[in-house]
Amino acid sequence: MILPIYLYGEPVLRKLAEEVDVESTDFKPLIADMFETMYHAGGVGLAAPQIGKAIRLFVIDSEPFKEAFPDVQIYKGAFINPIITEEWGDNFVFSEGCLSIPQISEEVTRKSQIRIEFFDENGTFHEAEFDGLVARIIQHEYEHLDGRMFVDNLSQIKKIVLKRQLTDIATGKTKPAYKTPRKK
Ligand code: NI
Repeated sequence: MILPIYLYGEPVLRKLAEEVDVESTDFKPLIADMFETMYHAGGVGLAAPQIGKAIRLFVIDSEPFKEAFPDVQIYKGAFINPIITEEWGDNFVFSEGCLSIPQISEEVTRKSQIRIEFFDENGTFHEAEFDGLVARIIQHEYEHLDGRMFVDNLSQIKKIVLKRQLTDIATGKTKPAYKTPRKK
C-alpha cells in the first residue's frame, strides 16, 4: 500500500522518534508498505517519520543509484532501532534530495564511512560497516529519526536562499507527484 509522504513543515518530521519493541511487533507489513511508497516516489531511502510515524525505523535501497554510479554498492534493507556508533574517513560531498523536501537538492558534507548497529525486519541484530553512497543514504535517513533533515546542515546563506522554496513546500504550494497527507 502506498502511504502519503509528509512534507517539510509537518511537525512529525521534527519529533525525536521513539525506539520500538522489535521482539513483540512484526514490522514486516509496515516495511513492505514503506518500500512500495519509496519506489513509487522514486526514492532511495524512507524514514518512518516521513510517513507520519515517529518511530526509529527506516528503509533504504541503493539500486536506483546504479545507473548514475555503476560502482555503487547495492544494499536493500530495513534498519530498526539503529545506532550509528562511529563515523570516520574523508569528508564526502554529495548532492542530496529528500522525498519530504521536493524539488530541492543541495550538497551536504558527511564522513565517508560509518558503523551501525540495527535490527532487520526479521528482528535479527546486526553490526555492520558501510561506506560511499550506502553510508550516505543511511546518514540521511538516520537524521530523520532525530527530527532533523538534510537542509539543517546547510550554511546560513544557503538556508536564506532556500527559505522561499521551503515555505512553498510547508504551505502546500509545491506539490510533488506522489501522495501527501491532506492539509487540515
Ligand atoms: Ni529525507
